[in-house]
Amino acid sequence: MNILGIETSCDETAAAIVTESLLVRSSVIASQAELHAKYGGVVPEVASRMHVERVLPVVRETLADAGLDYRGIDAIAVTNRPGLLGALLVGVSAAKALALSLDVPIVGVHHIEGHLYSNFLSDPTLSEAFPILALVASGGHTQIYRMDNHGQYTLLGRTRDDAAGEAFDKGARLFGLPYPGGPNLSRLAETGNPKAVDFPRAWLGDSLDFSFSGLKTSLRNYLIKEEARQDGKTTREDIAASYEEAITDALTEKMRRAAVQEKIRTLCVAGGVAANRRLKAKMTEMCARSGYRLVMPAFEFCTDNAAMIAAAAVPRLLAGKSDALTFDTFASQPLATMRG
Ligand code: KG4
Ligand code: ZN
Repeated sequence: MNILGIETSCDETAAAIVTESLLVRSSVIASQAELHAKYGGVVPEVASRMHVERVLPVVRETLADAGLDYRGIDAIAVTNRPGLLGALLVGVSAAKALALSLDVPIVGVHHIEGHLYSNFLSDPTLSEAFPILALVASGGHTQIYRMDNHGQYTLLGRTRDDAAGEAFDKGARLFGLPYPGGPNLSRLAETGNPKAVDFPRAWLGDSLDFSFSGLKTSLRNYLIKEEARQDGKTTREDIAASYEEAITDALTEKMRRAAVQEKIRTLCVAGGVAANRRLKAKMTEMCARSGYRLVMPAFEFCTDNAAMIAAAAVPRLLAGKSDALTFDTFASQPLATMRG
């Protein structure tokens, strides 16, 4: 079965072909990052218009890469929640039109569920390892989920203010680095000393929640003081590395605590921040120390892509389930409720 995935929830127009055994036959991502860079962030109206221009060419390109034509598509999976509403509607409308004309089943996919399934693309045997613990850290979300089966999620912790990716992006802006900030800040941090500045970590008692807004304020204050001091002892690289360390420490330590609390030994990480090398190193070290199995997505499937969306639809399609063509699109909708 060849599943066409379509993703247009933010500023990437993406399409992919994935099989029911989670083999990625092709994946095309047309990023709009350069267009939005001059505004310092994603402009929803611009994003929607670009998706309209690009969605069908991207679908045609992914079909060509997989050596298929439209008749080779057996099912369609499309992100229908959450995200920029205008942007989502472009992908959903294109997907519905294709499903109608090709007479194939269609499945609406939650974007966060898609991110979680980027781990199943790296290791399809994860399906035999439930329960698993998953950290989602992206530009808009930072959450820890317990996953007991396909489609069965419990939210254990979430950010109370900024998302981890947002903390990277806002921090990058304070350094005067261009959008997208996360990867640029991480590059600056590469040669710095992560212990140079002791930025605060908000542990929030026993909670598995996160808070990053205080950290961002400390960075702003530190940079102002540093400018006044100008003793040259602490470099920009050191400050960036210390800031990155504070974010990745919080993510890794909360995952460790969640694993102990839930007695779960299989951990995964998803979302754009999973592309961060320091986070990967820290998670790998923590899991090795505790004897946990760690699965992380391949680099190209950390940030938004359509292969993860097609992958998330596989369990439902294999169970013979799909959505009616009238299914809706939502700007916001939680994947799961917080454990009460
Ligand atoms: O998952 P994603 O592509 O889009 C959302 O659904 O939000 O995540 C994008 C986020 C941005 O905040 C970006 O700065 C961050 O992921 N990010 C990184 C890195 N690569 C992307 N943050 C830190 N280090 C990276 N290497
Ligand atoms: Zn995303």
